[in-house]
Amino acid sequence: MTFAKLWVGDLVAGDLGDVSAEAIYTDPPWNPGMARIMRQWAHADTGPVDYLELVCRTALAFARACPSGPWYLQAGPRPSVWREGLRRCSPLPIHTIPATWGTVANPKPYYVLCANGAPPIPSGLHGKDVTRAVMGQVTSKKSILDPFMGKGQTLRHAIPLGVSVFGMEINPKRLAAGAAWVERHHPEVDLSLESGGASWQA
Ligand SMILES: C[S@@+](CC[C@H](N)C(=O)[O-])C[C@H]1O[C@@H](n2cnc3c(N)ncnc32)[C@H](O)[C@@H]1O
Repeated sequence: MTFAKLWVGDLVAGDLGDVSAEAIYTDPPWNPGMARIMRQWAHADTGPVDYLELVCRTALAFARACPSGPWYLQAGPRPSVWREGLRRCSPLPIHTIPATWGTVANPKPYYVLCANGAPPIPSGLHGKDVTRAVMGQVTSKKSILDPFMGKGQTLRHAIPLGVSVFGMEINPKRLAAGAAWVERHHPEVDLSLESGGASWQA
């Protein structure tokens, strides 16, 4: 049975726990400013986040949660920090794929990193087509992890394909939006929602 195991957690604080997934697709904060703002929105009492610590802890978490890959990561318009971070933990080549987001009339460039054995997606895709292309590469997998889940882009594309999702997000309101989508559109899915830390294994 397809499941969606969602929890409120902070990757920097180690809240990924012992999750074990067959693939990763995620969209982390792209720059130090956003990383800080997002963390402060979720925890008003938290000081500035060390962006390099976030990148390094993410790469280590990927290696632990999904050692044999594939890993897909949206890395923003300047992908070098994320690419170098993942390179420390990904023994296989990393493909840096150009893509666009924003409106079709005003497309903005960004890059997708395909790491740790992830087959590259085609270059030049826009918006949701990027996610569809990634999903095309992971449909044979039983589960996918998104540790920066937001409102659930990964969830919304993986669940209809029958791929189970582990989703972590620091902001409870964003996580709740993803959970509500599952309840509304896929009531048949085994949905669990936790407000603090992960307590499950694959
Ligand atoms: C670029 S957004 C992801 C958007 C997502 N793809 C969606 O469908 O909404 C990055 C997300 O990472 C979350 N985030 C930021 N720092 C985090 C941390 N330390 N641990 C977990 N999530 C974090 C933010 O709250 C934000 O929702």
